[in-house]
Amino acid sequence: MSATFHKRLVTEASAPYRSASPWAWHFARGKLGADLLFTALLDPGLLPARGRYLDLGCGQGLLAAWLLAAARLHDRGQWPADLPPPPRLADYQGVELLAAAVRRARTAFTDSPAPIRVNSGDMCTAPLPAADVVSLIDVLHYIPADRQEALLRRIRDSLGSDGRLLLRVGDAAAGLPYRLSRLTDSLVVLAHCGRFPRLHGRPLDAWLTLLQNIGFRTETRPMGSAGFANTLILAQVA
Ligand SMILES: C[S@@+](CC[C@H](N)C(=O)[O-])C[C@H]1O[C@@H](n2cnc3c(N)ncnc32)[C@H](O)[C@@H]1O
Repeated sequence: MSATFHKRLVTEASAPYRSASPWAWHFARGKLGADLLFTALLDPGLLPARGRYLDLGCGQGLLAAWLLAAARLHDRGQWPADLPPPPRLADYQGVELLAAAVRRARTAFTDSPAPIRVNSGDMCTAPLPAADVVSLIDVLHYIPADRQEALLRRIRDSLGSDGRLLLRVGDAAAGLPYRLSRLTDSLVVLAHCGRFPRLHGRPLDAWLTLLQNIGFRTETRPMGSAGFANTLILAQVA
């Protein structure tokens, strides 16, 4: 993707957050612009052409904002000919613990023609509606190891044979980059909630083994170098 088109897509995807707050808009612009995950989401073969999404720990819903913006540009004939058509949202449900993030997402998506719902709740106990894609982006390390495993088992049971689980996890064996990444997460939680969280990481090998033991086949996906020890994993029911 060219730098010019990337900038245009970031502008389009962050625009709905203007109605939520200046902070929400700046955060969206910064995160969508800098995090290579979002470009990687458009790689062929990662996401289905059209699907129902369940985004656990969705924050302010950047995943939905990004895919909706891509679809809008495609519909307007402003999509580069050298890129595959973007994946489409048939339906999107987000689950998020932090009430302020839920409010930002709901405000941003108020006028969205696509079916978007962002629910307040704890992903460990929230119902898991039928979905083609379940995502856990930078979120699993917020819950203890036994709850990680229980949630992953519930997701496996909820996914159909064509379903996909998309995760991004940190590699606790990666040394300083991992520690910097977790420090950033801790400071964000401190700023929002006034407390320092306890985080629960695992080395990448252990994440992959856990997923395989639960009944997923896994593949790690390229995501460029984000400067942190984060890995994108596509897991499908084995
Ligand atoms: C680092 S942010 C990532 C947000 C989003 N996935 C993204 O990539 O933009 C992690 C999010 O997970 C949320 N979270 C943490 N524990 C959660 C839980 N048990 N249930 C739902 N959300 C949770 C946090 O409030 C935070 O918004």
